[in-house]
Amino acid sequence: MKTLTTQDLRQQYLSFFREKGHTIISSASLIPDNDPTVLFTTAGMHPLVPYLLGAKHPGGTRLTDVQKCVRTGDIDEVGDATHCTFFEMLGNWSLGDYFKKESIAFSFEFLTKVLGIPTDRLAVSVFAGDDDCARDEVSATRWEELGIAKENIFYLPKKNNWWGPAGITGPCGPDTEIFFITGKEKCCDDCSPACDCGRYVEIWNNVFMEFFKNQDGTFRPLAQKNVDTGMGLERTVAMLNGYASVYDIDVFKPVMELLKAKSGKEGHERDMRIIADHIRTATFMLGDENGITPGNVDQGYILRRLIRRAVRFVRQIEVDNSVLEEISKIYIDEYAPFYPELKENEEKILSELRLETERFDKTVAQGIKEFEKLRGYIQENRLSGKAAFRLYDTFGFPIEMTVEMAKEYDITVDMEGFEKAYKEHQERSHAGAEQKFKGGLADTGVETSRLHTATHLLNACLKKILHDDSIQQKGSNITAERLRFDFNFPRPLTPEEIKAVEDAVNAIIAEKVPVVCREMPIEEARKLGAIGVFKDKYQEIVKTYTIGTYSMEMCGGPHAENTGDLGHFTILKEQSSSAGIRRIKAILS
Ligand code: ALA
Repeated sequence: MKTLTTQDLRQQYLSFFREKGHTIISSASLIPDNDPTVLFTTAGMHPLVPYLLGAKHPGGTRLTDVQKCVRTGDIDEVGDATHCTFFEMLGNWSLGDYFKKESIAFSFEFLTKVLGIPTDRLAVSVFAGDDDCARDEVSATRWEELGIAKENIFYLPKKNNWWGPAGITGPCGPDTEIFFITGKEKCCDDCSPACDCGRYVEIWNNVFMEFFKNQDGTFRPLAQKNVDTGMGLERTVAMLNGYASVYDIDVFKPVMELLKAKSGKEGHERDMRIIADHIRTATFMLGDENGITPGNVDQGYILRRLIRRAVRFVRQIEVDNSVLEEISKIYIDEYAPFYPELKENEEKILSELRLETERFDKTVAQGIKEFEKLRGYIQENRLSGKAAFRLYDTFGFPIEMTVEMAKEYDITVDMEGFEKAYKEHQERSHAGAEQKFKGGLADTGVETSRLHTATHLLNACLKKILHDDSIQQKGSNITAERLRFDFNFPRPLTPEEIKAVEDAVNAIIAEKVPVVCREMPIEEARKLGAIGVFKDKYQEIVKTYTIGTYSMEMCGGPHAENTGDLGHFTILKEQSSSAGIRRIKAILS
């Protein structure tokens, strides 16, 4: 049988749903635009939340895409047969258009007709029902009508058959999940997709998003009934090819082979998978259209941990650090046809990888010194959990290394104390994350609308005042209180320039210019000179916002209706964000 590649499945999926009346949209950035609530895009539905809540999408009511996703919650599982920190999610959406029956029929047709999976190799689960939502007989009946045997239809509770919201509040609903029956025997009489015995592998999840989860944990019906589906690309390709692991699929194969050839060490499959996974994720984070660099907070911190973890495993298999760049290059070339941003950012990706690896080498050297210092304070040959956590937190010194070094000196590490310090730290960051969530996915309020519009004005005025047409948005983040805008510029702005930019923005505000939103094909927007991230992937309809003759930018919105509504614009801070990138924080008052 011909091997199915990731590109084959992407294409088959998108073509199938295009034929069923869906508009193909591009993957959104991995780093959510103007969304302070989450660090990374974790599902295809994430960039579509406003539309699930009722906003009109320029692509219509039926959409399909392949979305770049990052989930780091299962990082400790990476290295087994199925987990990855980065993955691509194939998805199709109905925004108040079709519902359960059509959605299930589409999935069934795609799986059995396009992919050729025999009906008797498919099992499904449906929502068993509870106080919040009735038992989903509609879905079960539909599956039966299509030919799924009764014994392969399972009713499962909320724990298994409910998806969302992506954060604390937001759209969610019961789902029906589709599993491939691997051929492994049932593990027990009650064997079901809820077991992790390996008989059932989930390949697709169709969520019927008809509820909104409130802050207090209750649910209210949404104004429109939506469908949100997600199919893991890597897992499905592995399964359809009959592979035992996702690391056998086309995109990982050359990387795993390279590692095996370089290392020559036997029995390090898991270590190699971790390297392959982490460097792929790092490559996509660095090369994203809203690309980030390693740092000590938020996304930058996760990226730093991934690279450093990869370095640690590279040491384990006794290969030179330079292999990380080699691996990244393989990914850039493989993925460039579908994700051109990787090729565009190749230099940045490779140099940042190298820099972070060098920094980590220094850190390790420093950590060893620090460890030597701490040894003086060790009592009864035991390093306190707090000290171990300090090495980890302040110096990025992996706990495994601390333990190893301690062993050399016949010292033990208080792991319980370390875990406690670690947990406390996590709770603090979690509290921070929750705080962020309060900023609200659904917060499309007046403040953020005004700040969005101010961001467009700032972008336009920077170009004008600094006489530099190459200035582009390199990142943007808006909360209800302030805007943050990153752009390329080689030096700090002078106080005079900052004042001139403020004055220019305030002048447009004083002029009370209407903000006009228009929808048009991306080609037309480009011809009209709109700025924004153009992707040459699909013929898409985009929204553009025009502010008089000052600015025309592609953007999802929301925006103020008139610049006169903005108030007074003040730049609070102008600072370096990373090499060649400046960052401005500004407010409206
Ligand atoms: N949003 C759903 C998921 O991530 C489809 O599984």
